[in-house]
Amino acid sequence: MKKVAILTGGGDAPGLNAVIRAVVIRLAREKKDYQLIGVVDGWAGLRDNVTMPLDPNKVDEILHEGGTILGTSRTNLYKNPDDVKKAVDVYKKLELHALVAIGGDDTLEIGYYLNRDHGLNVVGVPKTIDNDVLGTDFTFGFWSSVEQATKAIDDLRVTTMSHHRVMVVECMGRHAGWITAYTGLASEADYIAVPEKPVHINDIAREVKHCRSLGKLHSIVVVAEGASIAGIEVKPRIVKNKEGGWTLSDKVERDSFGNTVMKPGEVGEAVAAEIEKLTGFETRAIALGHLQRGGTPCAYDRILGTRYGVQAADAVIKNQFGHLVVLQGLKVETVPMKGMVRETQSEKKRYKYLPDSFLELAEVFYG
Ligand code: F6P
Repeated sequence: MKKVAILTGGGDAPGLNAVIRAVVIRLAREKKDYQLIGVVDGWAGLRDNVTMPLDPNKVDEILHEGGTILGTSRTNLYKNPDDVKKAVDVYKKLELHALVAIGGDDTLEIGYYLNRDHGLNVVGVPKTIDNDVLGTDFTFGFWSSVEQATKAIDDLRVTTMSHHRVMVVECMGRHAGWITAYTGLASEADYIAVPEKPVHINDIAREVKHCRSLGKLHSIVVVAEGASIAGIEVKPRIVKNKEGGWTLSDKVERDSFGNTVMKPGEVGEAVAAEIEKLTGFETRAIALGHLQRGGTPCAYDRILGTRYGVQAADAVIKNQFGHLVVLQGLKVETVPMKGMVRETQSEKKRYKYLPDSFLELAEVFYG
């Protein structure tokens, strides 16, 4: 019997259970050669040896459930060399044949190092509602969060119209503007602000005023929590650089992986206050926050998660370790993890950013 463990790390995303279910069912049915276990709460569970048995019965009818039945955490084993040693020892003690690590860039990075430096048989599966993992066209969870956010704006539109207000909707996405741009496009937003394209608050105010001049008495502005907006009163996350452009400030609070710690609503509220000041139009803000990670996965994410899970199980069967399963066009493929994440934690992180064409598409409909 070969023992295969599955873990989920980082922020949860709708579709995690679809992957877990697919890996378990695919491997459990492979000539009955594989025994499955779940590692509880991501890399913390491997370090602390907290596991649970998994079998096809356990994963029956979890496809439609959001969250993860394994629990998750943001644990950076590489902050402490002892933690790496503990995790490697537990892997050996459990006599694991392979480990399927499902997570975003942080979780995958740890999996990559454990494979490269300690020979652990890791297969990575990319996850995040932010859709910013390199190498794959889409991560599961993304479309569910866009559905949630779009539905929220559909609901907000009536009250915004009744009061002839400006509504600023803040979406998740600290490094990349995928959720914001897709939600904004799906919701006929009057302005979309994302991390990839620095703007000044005056640009947003000008667009809002332009809408009014055309006779539209309300506006919807969609901003990413990590949007690069100069001229708002929020901790200076964006500062002028030497070249006269805008750069992320060194002073922002960061987590153990170096990610900016976001305060839901901070950017949206600041944008709303400034729009009201600059335009004189009554403005409100709402942060959709963790609602974007909640609810049930949409059908697309259930299917993508299932495809990823089967591909990851196949990678285990074929001994393709140190690899990541990805969606490229219509195909799910298996590619080396090298190049998809940084080589050391002192390097700059690597993300898949929103292409300019999406913002250009949105701009066609402004005003
Ligand atoms: O990484 C996904 C994400 O949802 C980001 O969009 C967001 O900034 C972050 O997680 C929030 O993390 P937490 O759940 O730890 O507050």
